[in-house]
Amino acid sequence: MSAQIIDGKAISATIRAEIKVEVEAMKAQYNKVPGLATVLVSDRKDSQTYVRMKKKACAEVGIASFGHELPTSISQAELLKVVQELNANPDVHGILVQLPLPDHLDEEEILGAVSLEKDVDGFHPLNIGRLSMKRREPLFVPCTPRGCIELLDRTGVQIEGKRAVVLGRSNIVGLPVAMLLLHRNATLTICHSRTKNLPEVVREADILITAVGRAEMVRGDWVKPGVVVIDVGTNAVDDPADNRGYHLVGDVAFNEVKEVASAITPVPGGVGPMTIAMLLRNTLDGAKRTSG
Ligand code: GUN
Repeated sequence: MSAQIIDGKAISATIRAEIKVEVEAMKAQYNKVPGLATVLVSDRKDSQTYVRMKKKACAEVGIASFGHELPTSISQAELLKVVQELNANPDVHGILVQLPLPDHLDEEEILGAVSLEKDVDGFHPLNIGRLSMKRREPLFVPCTPRGCIELLDRTGVQIEGKRAVVLGRSNIVGLPVAMLLLHRNATLTICHSRTKNLPEVVREADILITAVGRAEMVRGDWVKPGVVVIDVGTNAVDDPADNRGYHLVGDVAFNEVKEVASAITPVPGGVGPMTIAMLLRNTLDGAKRTSG
């Protein structure tokens, strides 16, 4: 039997509609509009596309966006100054520094300079630290991990007591999504490039979250019947038949795994749209917390 396809596009549209209603209510009641500042220091096409999509999504729900497209030659001191100005700007409730930054910039220092109250990406070391500890509440949860959990919740998947396997341990996805699963009382395994007998470990999963960036690595015979799969991978594969010259696939061999899983996210149209919806949600939450 073929798996239920978890439609991230539809779920994210529902969430964005919910956010739009709340933004309108905030405007009517307090004459206040949530604001997101995007900081782009990259000539990477994918980063430019992501930032453009984030700004467009803001406009659609009535969130103001303030775009800062900075030259890749910018110095650490100049970039820090931009972040500090945004920290002080009362119209800005969220600051997003698109990653990766060029190699000459110190990412850790920049992310640590973002005001905790405006850290809508949830990448400030204190927010990540709080996320990783028991009974500590981060002000913001990173968007893609939050989107993964939201997909499970809105699909009616129970997390508590389940065997969850996370492939990948990145700061942006693998690590924080693992922490979220743990907080929800899953029994957790984190796999990475040094994990031995990977297919065997993956086969234990009731819930599998993949974030390794390896096209179609997880095959149909790697998974247990009935597994729920959230595929965060977005990998471009050369495709002369496609007018862009490539098409996108996940970390999971979708056509094989969907025959074994009970539910699975497609790529594209699964996790991707949720990242943006959660960014809007975090920005609105940030605006609600400020009195101004
Ligand atoms: N680069 C890849 N994913 C992300 C993300 O979620 N936020 C930011 N700021 N940069 C990214």
